[in-house]
Amino acid sequence: MKKIVVAIDGYSSCGKSTTAKIVAKELHYAYIDTGAMYRAVTLYFLDHYIDLTNPKKINQALSEIHITFERNAKTQRNEVFLNGLNVEDEIRKMYISNKVSEVSVIPEVRHCLVKQQQKMGKKRGVVMDGRDIGTTVFPDAEVKVFMTADVYTRAKRRQEELLEKGEMVPIDEIIQNLQKRDHIDSTRKESPLMQAPDARLLDTTFITIDEQVDFVLEQVAAQI
Ligand code: C5P
Repeated sequence: MKKIVVAIDGYSSCGKSTTAKIVAKELHYAYIDTGAMYRAVTLYFLDHYIDLTNPKKINQALSEIHITFERNAKTQRNEVFLNGLNVEDEIRKMYISNKVSEVSVIPEVRHCLVKQQQKMGKKRGVVMDGRDIGTTVFPDAEVKVFMTADVYTRAKRRQEELLEKGEMVPIDEIIQNLQKRDHIDSTRKESPLMQAPDARLLDTTFITIDEQVDFVLEQVAAQI
């Protein structure tokens, strides 16, 4: 059967990664969480006090960063490793969410990660979620879905995810973070967050994860 690229882009906390993970499992495809890569770079930059206005230091730091995804046999989850260290839980914390969009605007960071993502999906057979997959990383993706949802619904979902990991964050703080990230992501010069002209729009405010998955799988079925 023909292997394709499934690109799932959209605003923060619309259910992109939950949907993408299930779709990848159904298709026996690899799942690549590109947001996790930007988060891992952010963690490294914070840990090493990298000056975000100094391109030389940024390039040097990027050359020291090695990001991989490994499957956790116990949880069956794909987890992110930064230079061999499991950072899956650390990168989801609020202090990373508060900084990641500032790091993601940096052209050197984008060039470096886009190149790695293109390499990961070269053989196709991948489901990739992010902000610029359908526009920049794989403009030739066979399936492109762009997700959106009401900000309050998104914040409630993110709050529950954080709570499951033991971090209690007030809803107002999460709404502020989502709106700030959406704004920075949509207005940056380099590969801004936007719907590709050939992407199908999916509003997830009132639909279940199963319905989101079905929507994507229907697009896939039409292509393979
Ligand atoms: O998907 P997630 O919320 O984990 O992404 C974190 C941040 O990483 C986004 O707010 C955005 O700033 C950045 N990002 C990006 N391009 C991608 C994926 C994520 O700029 N393809």
